[in-house]
Amino acid sequence: MLVSGTGSILQALLNACQSEEFGARIVAVGADRDGTGGVEKAEAAGIPTFVRRVKDFPDRMGWDQALTRDCAGYAPDLVVAAGFLKLVGQDFLSQFGGRMINTHPALLPAFPGLHSVRDALAYGVKVTGCSVILVDAGIDSGPILAQQAVPVLDDDDEEALHERIKVVERTLVVDTIGRMVRNGWTASDRTVRIGS
Ligand code: GAR
Repeated sequence: MLVSGTGSILQALLNACQSEEFGARIVAVGADRDGTGGVEKAEAAGIPTFVRRVKDFPDRMGWDQALTRDCAGYAPDLVVAAGFLKLVGQDFLSQFGGRMINTHPALLPAFPGLHSVRDALAYGVKVTGCSVILVDAGIDSGPILAQQAVPVLDDDDEEALHERIKVVERTLVVDTIGRMVRNGWTASDRTVRIGS
């Protein structure tokens, strides 16, 4: 798993993985910065961790290659980005494309990017939500695996709305990954179906 922040979605997955029936386990957690709650949570659970900071490399491609090597070393079936605030590059996608998942706090294709909750509030939408997608080379543009709506309340601010989205998002991510690992999936152009 790849994280940049508090790692509450990671924690939800760690909890789900306690049960063998879930069908998956987390082999490692990587971050793009020091001191993340996500890495702390992984360490507390005894999961191997690594940190790869862009600023430690002469260019972005060098970082991408190192991150690819780090992840490949754990031979994951899936790579899950949960609150990972970096775009991966060509090397990473050539290794993990089609099996890298990202979760995003908006109903894509509306409000891609880093400020999706703020952007949804500023637009005045009455319903927003979260999307679990396969990662492609664009910004939050990959095929959609699952989505769930969350109503916007009149007195919502960015923090309150994001927290309500994350409650739904944690369950959606766990459910989607569980179904993928247990049942497989097929992708045809933009349409992905989980299970047969
Ligand atoms: C989640 O809402 C996730 O969708 C968002 O960061 C949060 C991570 O929460 N990701 C993005 O905005 C990526 N564009 P967490 O650190 O508590 O799991």
